[in-house]
Amino acid sequence: MRLANKVAIITGGSRGIGRATADLFAEEGAIVYVLDISLDDQFESDKIHFIAHDVTDEAAWKNVVEQIVSEAGTIDILFNNAGIVGSYEGIETIEMDDWHRILDINLNGVFLGTRTVLPVMRAAGKGAIVHTSSMWGVVGAIGVAAYTASKGAVRSLSKNVALTYAKDGIRSNSIHPGIIETPLVLAQDKSMTQEIVDKTPIGRLGTAREIAYGALYLASDESSYVTGTELIIDGGHTAL
Ligand SMILES: NC(=O)c1ccc[n+]([C@@H]2O[C@H](COP(=O)([O-])OP(=O)(O)OC[C@H]3O[C@@H](n4cnc5c(N)ncnc54)[C@H](O)[C@@H]3O)[C@@H](O)[C@H]2O)c1
Repeated sequence: MRLANKVAIITGGSRGIGRATADLFAEEGAIVYVLDISLDDQFESDKIHFIAHDVTDEAAWKNVVEQIVSEAGTIDILFNNAGIVGSYEGIETIEMDDWHRILDINLNGVFLGTRTVLPVMRAAGKGAIVHTSSMWGVVGAIGVAAYTASKGAVRSLSKNVALTYAKDGIRSNSIHPGIIETPLVLAQDKSMTQEIVDKTPIGRLGTAREIAYGALYLASDESSYVTGTELIIDGGHTAL
């Protein structure tokens, strides 16, 4: 039990990477709160609680954090994972509405979650925050302007949190998945996905569970000397 009795928030945990992480955290003994705008399939584990929540809603963040602290006593882990691709357009062609929506969910959602949970962690003198960025937050990609901008910003914000709150016992790290088999990727153009897989040395899509194991390490006390770092899980894509 690598997360025995730890209380964890996972945003975007209804499906994909977040769901695999919720299942793994619960298997490892955590009490998990999944915050997501929707839930298609119920969770099997009674250690996973679902709260309908939009990560862009600052007032809702305050209510949700209060609810979790009153029910579970504290928050040990925050996994800022909710995110969308939203638009594949580049700088000149992306609609402003899309630009704002993508930055709002992928970056402002991470900022708001972190900002709301930090006082709880500071009071406890401990906490682990993990953010889902992307390999496109480390290296460049053509097109997908808002997505790459948001994921690069999450990488930087994670380091800001790490440096600012190290003395409070709070760690912050980012995960950078490559191309992972989730509803997000299954919904996109298959030739685009294949093109990325072809450039991936391991030669296949990653699984959500393979990302969840990274989140487990960074959320657990096993990574107690790890903060401000980037865990790239991309089948070797960015090593090329
Ligand atoms: N799948 C990949 O290849 C890949 C690669 C790199 C990074 N990522 C990142 O991993 C994270 C998870 O992606 P995934 O592939 O599991 O996607 P997914 O679409 O399968 O799941 C994302 C979840 O986030 C939720 N969500 C969306 N907007 C939300 C909001 N405003 N508030 C709360 N929840 C919201 C969705 O309802 C969904 O359950 C994202 O941040 C994504 O950018 C994914």
